[in-house]
Amino acid sequence: MSDYNRFYGKSSTSLPSLIKSYWRTKRYLFLIPAVLSIWSIFLLFSHITSTDDPEFSLEKALHPDTEDDLSTSTMERNPTPYKAIVLKPLPPQANVYQWPPNIQNPLCLPKIFVYPDSPKMGEFQVAEVPHMGTNYIAEQILLKQLRNKESSVYKNYVTENPEEADFFYIPFLGSKYLADCWFTKGIKGDCDVDKKYAEPMMNHIQRDYHYWNRTFGRDHIMTHPMDNTSNYYKSKARMQNATFLTTVGDKRVAFTVDGRSRRYDDIVIPSATALLNLAFVNPLDYLDADGHPKTGKRDVLALFGGRYNDVKPEDDYSAGVRSLLFNGLDQQPDYQIATSWDNSKYTELLTRTKYGLAPQGYTLDTTRIWEYIAFGVVPVVIADGIIEPFEDDLDWDSFIVRIRRRDAHRMDVILRSISEEEYERKREILWKHGRQVLLDHDAWNLIVRALCRKGRLEGKRTIDRNHHELLSGDVTIQ
Ligand SMILES: *[C@@H]1O[C@H](CO)[C@@H](O)[C@H](O)[C@H]1NC(C)=O
Ligand SMILES: *[C@@H]1O[C@H](CO)[C@@H](O)[C@H](O)[C@H]1NC(C)=O
Ligand SMILES: *[C@@H]1O[C@H](CO)[C@@H](O)[C@H](O)[C@H]1NC(C)=O
Repeated sequence: MSDYNRFYGKSSTSLPSLIKSYWRTKRYLFLIPAVLSIWSIFLLFSHITSTDDPEFSLEKALHPDTEDDLSTSTMERNPTPYKAIVLKPLPPQANVYQWPPNIQNPLCLPKIFVYPDSPKMGEFQVAEVPHMGTNYIAEQILLKQLRNKESSVYKNYVTENPEEADFFYIPFLGSKYLADCWFTKGIKGDCDVDKKYAEPMMNHIQRDYHYWNRTFGRDHIMTHPMDNTSNYYKSKARMQNATFLTTVGDKRVAFTVDGRSRRYDDIVIPSATALLNLAFVNPLDYLDADGHPKTGKRDVLALFGGRYNDVKPEDDYSAGVRSLLFNGLDQQPDYQIATSWDNSKYTELLTRTKYGLAPQGYTLDTTRIWEYIAFGVVPVVIADGIIEPFEDDLDWDSFIVRIRRRDAHRMDVILRSISEEEYERKREILWKHGRQVLLDHDAWNLIVRALCRKGRLEGKRTIDRNHHELLSGDVTIQ
């Protein structure tokens, strides 16, 4: 007899007979293991069949054939006890009811007169000052397009006869003046910009021509492509009645009060960028006609390159958002986050990236977004209150992801919850329509649409200033 039997010898009854006796006398005890095993089978089963918490579930596989994929995949990410109802899509609408519009159909065909350069505008205007290596050359690019007699912009909109013009473009290059002074000459401060440039310019426009006074400048246009728009100039009061083309569109009160962003007076335009407009990198050297990389695939989920990796959450700069990028998101293996890359590395990364992070910096806009758009990288805009260029004509929300500052810490979760189909839909719209916004694509056509609205010229074509005739519906611009 083993020790075991010595201790427990008394109960030498076999297990089956023990069970039998319990079944006869204490049957209710069997309920406990029964309930437990049913429960664990249920848990196992539901674990196998469940999608995880929707926001954490990885993107669903792409089923390009089924029409209702988006609704199905959205439902799968938000499980409900009910089967989703997917109906037939509504029929297409007549053109006039559609938004966004086809911007090749002009809203109006106005005429723009561009003031010729003159030494009276300040010596700077006619000096041979080279292009500066800054992001603030939108004013130079737009002016060049207006003055290039071969350009479709010139052919569509420009007149050499001020008497028949609806709008007057002031060839003001304040950013070029300041960049030349700050970066080439290394001078700090205001560089006497008022005395040497802004005042002579406005004097010439307002005194030597009679067009400004006719409308108090309301039909005049000038470009202010830097962060502080017209606030660099003490003589800015002279300019205020003109329409400004600015890269800073901002609905926040403080920035409206200081005059940087004027919701109904300015037209927000895209910025130039060093990669596209100074290094002249051409995305089509790297991407095919559909915007897919010619080699490899988009295996980087999200990208950000920019300085200031020491931003604190409570800082004003970037509203603290950069602190999240450099203290957490940079740990994610499929993110690329760095303070800088050289152009060739950056270009390579842009072709490999799905989402480009575009948090605000000093201002809500960021030049990165134009590089993302040019490379078919879906922008993730984190800039509460921003006014994007040409919002009246472009459906920004169809090709960007918008994340509010209060959700910025959940950025990774939000991006991973976007299904492959939703991403692809945005990417396609971005490639087809989003790129129209760029300075070297349709920026002037879009600026003119905004001018049509400001001048109440919708549906009209200028014959001369006092004579507009209806624009026939079949006119298209190149
Ligand atoms: C326009 O008005 C301003 C201010 O009254 C005046 O100084 C200027 O000479 C006027 N310009 C012309 C061309 O009359
Ligand atoms: C831009 O404006 C802000 C606020 O008005 C000011 O603090 C800053 O110095 C200005 N920058 C330049 C370069 O003028
Ligand atoms: C701007 O417009 C107002 C009228 O709205 C006018 O009184 C003022 O003189 C204009 N400023 C300039 C510089 O023309």
